Formats: sequence, structure tokens, C-alpha cells
Amino acid sequence: MAFPTETVYGLGADARNTAAVEAIFAAKGRPSDNPLIVHIADMSQLDGLVTAVNETGRRLMEAFWPGPLTLVLPAAPGAVSPRVTAGLDTVAVRMPAHDIALRLIAAAGCPVAAPSANRSGRPSPTLAGHVGDDLAGRIDGIVDGGPTGVGVESTVVEAGDDGVVTVLRPGGITVEQLARHAEGGVRLDAALQNAGGDSEAKDMPAPRSPGMKYTHYAPRGALRVVSGSAPERVADRIQAELDAARARGEITGVLAFDEHLPFYRADCVLSLGSLTALETAAHRLYAALRRFDDSGVTFIMAESCPQEGLGAAVMNRLLKAAGQQVIYV
Ligand code: TXA
Ligand code: MG
Repeated sequence: MAFPTETVYGLGADARNTAAVEAIFAAKGRPSDNPLIVHIADMSQLDGLVTAVNETGRRLMEAFWPGPLTLVLPAAPGAVSPRVTAGLDTVAVRMPAHDIALRLIAAAGCPVAAPSANRSGRPSPTLAGHVGDDLAGRIDGIVDGGPTGVGVESTVVEAGDDGVVTVLRPGGITVEQLARHAEGGVRLDAALQNAGGDSEAKDMPAPRSPGMKYTHYAPRGALRVVSGSAPERVADRIQAELDAARARGEITGVLAFDEHLPFYRADCVLSLGSLTALETAAHRLYAALRRFDDSGVTFIMAESCPQEGLGAAVMNRLLKAAGQQVIYV
């Protein structure tokens, strides 16, 4: 069953039931080594699910639950199907800040394993219609709660006993927010250090969040990101690439911020909102990538944004959607 959360739509099943969890992997076409997040509706559900929560973990839960933060915790043996944790001895847990999600989990009376409700590799769904486009006929149903709020997935973290919080996946809770509650500071998992999109990097460490190693969120058209400190140079390069693509017969799209929209001519021009309100970019990103597909766009150029606040999650998803193909100008 697919259901809304404050981040994206999830595809839920009883986390204890291996057959149900296997049905999630089958419906999504998801690699089986990529573990699922377990969703809970109240703190009492943590008992039995995990063996311990350290002081820093407690603080983060108090500060951000319910909300878009996932904690990787030591799993209580046998509490959930081994297919949920993909054989790891940790389990990722979150309590979503969405009334429908919380009521559904409470009614289910069990921990609910739920990945984003998209076909693996596609942009995550922020509308019930996106879920239907990807999974109609493959799942039992969709609870339509309208558009999701945050628009990018939860932040996945590990809270160390030393008070250090390690971000495994940037998301709806920002590094700046985490820093206020992490007495040991906030680190990015080594696999995220190249979020600038350096395609030359050959010795990338394996990400601790297994899902981070797959190509994700990709539209069907070719997507490239242009990055640079001078907006006019970025816009000139984007327009030159669009013009060249159009001359080759491509259907062109551009994904840009309001401040620069008037610069562009393309078959499909989509806005991520203002550079001064990156929560709008997070909210719109996945729907925009799907809209390019629906418009038959074959060649997409995107602007980048500062990796501050929600900009870190937006750039992480955009660069993954682009297969890390960045043009620096
Ligand atoms: O906002 C969200 O988190 C959404 C909604 C539906 O709650 N869910 C979501 O799930 O994004 P999914 O499956 O698309 O992404 C789960 C991420 C993957 O990157 C996975 O590798 C990581 O969490 N993960 C799950 N269990 C883990 C574990 N034990 N250790 C490290 N990473 C883990
Ligand atoms: Mg996902």
C-alpha cells in the first residue's frame, strides 16, 4: 500500500513479514542489497526494534521526530525481516510527520517498512499520481493525501557514542539543524564528500547508506548540471547547450531558478522557485523531473544552487539524476 509522508510517498508493508517485504522489492524492481527504512508512529514501537539508543540519538529524536530524519540504530535480532535490513546489523528508523502516515502505521499495529513509492531509479513520488504512473497494477492501492510537503526524502544519519552525527544521505533535516543538537559536530559520510560532482574521482569509498551508490531519480532525457559563480556565464553556457541540442533535433528542457528564468529559450522551461527559498526547490524537484518526461523532453540543462540548508539535498538529488555530469564554467 502506498501512502503519503511529509517527504515523499512511501510503499509500505509489515516489516516483520518477509513475503510482504519481498513484494515491495518486486514492485519497485529494487536491488535486494538496499535496505528499507522502518516507519513507526510512536516511541513505544522502538522497544524491541533496536537494542540501544545513545544520548545523541535521543536528542535527535526529541528535536526532530516526528519529522524527516532517519536514524540508523543497532537492530534487535529478529525484530524485522532480514530483507528489510539487507543483512546489516543496523536498522534505519523514522517517525514521519504526516497525519495520514501516522494513522496508517498505528492502525497497522506493526513497524512499517517503506521505501519511496517509485520504480527503482525513477524520481521519488511527491503526488499520488506519480505513484500510479510507476506502480499501477503492481501494488494493492494508494492513499491519496495530495502533494507531499518537503519533497525530498528524509535525512539518514548515524549518531555516534562520541556525539558526532554522520550524515549518510542529505534530506529534509539540514546539516545546520542537526549541528544545533550534535555536541560532537556533524560529518558527511565520506561517500558524500564528492557531492560537487567530480566525475574524475575514482577512489570513492563505498557509501555506508547502500542506496546512495545507485543511479537515482533520473528523468528519461539526458540531464546535465551547470555550475559556476557567475550567473551570466552559467546562463550563457546553458543556452548555448540548449541551442546546440535543438539544432540536433532534441526536445529541450531547462530547470532554473526564478532569478534567471527570463534568460532561457527551450521547449520546456521549469522553475525551482527563488534561490532565496530553497525549500521550494526541494518541493518541486521530483515533479519537475517527471514533467520533462511527460513533455517528451530529451535533453535537459539544470542550474545548480548553493549547498546550504535544503540546497544540499537538492544538489545531491540533482547530481544523482544527472549521473554526476556537471559542467563547470
Ligand atoms: O523520506 C523518506 O525517507 C522516504 C519516505 C517514504 O519515508 N523513504 C525513503 O526510503 O526514502 P528509500 O528506501 O527510498 O531510501 C532509504 C535509504 C537508502 O539510501 C538506504 O540505503 C538507507 O536509507 N538505509 C536503510 N537502512 C539502512 C541501514 N541500516 N544503514 C544505512 N543506510 C540504510
Ligand atoms: Mg528511494
